[in-house]
Amino acid sequence: PFMTTLDRRSGLALKLQRQYNLQGCHIIRGDADEDPELQQELSQLMAEEFQKMIFDNAIISVAGGSTMANVSQYLKPAEENLLFVSARGGLGEEVGNQANSIASRLAKATGGEHRVLYAPDSVGDSVYESLKDEPSIKEITELNRRSDYVMHGIGEAFMMARRRNVEAAALSQLEADCAVGETFGYYFNAEGDIVRKVKTIGIQLEDLASKKAIFAVAGGSSKKEAVRAYMKMAPKNTILFIDEAIGEFLLKND
Ligand code: BG6
Repeated sequence: PFMTTLDRRSGLALKLQRQYNLQGCHIIRGDADEDPELQQELSQLMAEEFQKMIFDNAIISVAGGSTMANVSQYLKPAEENLLFVSARGGLGEEVGNQANSIASRLAKATGGEHRVLYAPDSVGDSVYESLKDEPSIKEITELNRRSDYVMHGIGEAFMMARRRNVEAAALSQLEADCAVGETFGYYFNAEGDIVRKVKTIGIQLEDLASKKAIFAVAGGSSKKEAVRAYMKMAPKNTILFIDEAIGEFLLKND
């Protein structure tokens, strides 16, 4: 009979965790598109859950985005040694939202260390071949491969493509391929099939399966299709952080 909104939310989280066979699921109230304060709550929730899982010498790969950009504000200094590594190189995005700046802020907030990827994220074949063997790049690739945790956002495909100034031809191709979501430079359709992959020296999708946990965060009803699609390809070690608007949608539209 009497159910608090908190009970309802944790009930929803549990259902989704089972529905998608996830390591964890956490849900904040409302629709984050409608209130910037909710975006902050989402980043805070992720920061708090992450803080509970910290251990000595943990290596954490971090991606960029506006949601990830807020996480460091809610982290406290940690006793443990932590190393934050950029999962992605430089993108055509606002500097503060790039993986490199976020990794450095997360390290500062927890008293840990960080390593950045001094390279553009998306590169042509010949540049990729010569860059990947650069010692400073190799070190980051290696760290991303063996990191314990990954933290990343999930984006709506066209919003991300436009934000990154993807050229017109590629945009039309994304349209033709019915892309709905993006994460780490991988664009995918509603079935969770990858339709476009940016050639990146950053983290690869294949690197995810071996992680102890993957913290994936997305809020706002504009991302509901993106998250549903991502759930079809998400590894089982994912801990999902969303809002109620997305949560209710996932429950009804498996
Ligand atoms: C990017 C990540 O930097 O941020 C992507 O590499 C993600 O994985 C995107 O899709 C999400 O951005 P935002 O601003 O919506 O949190």
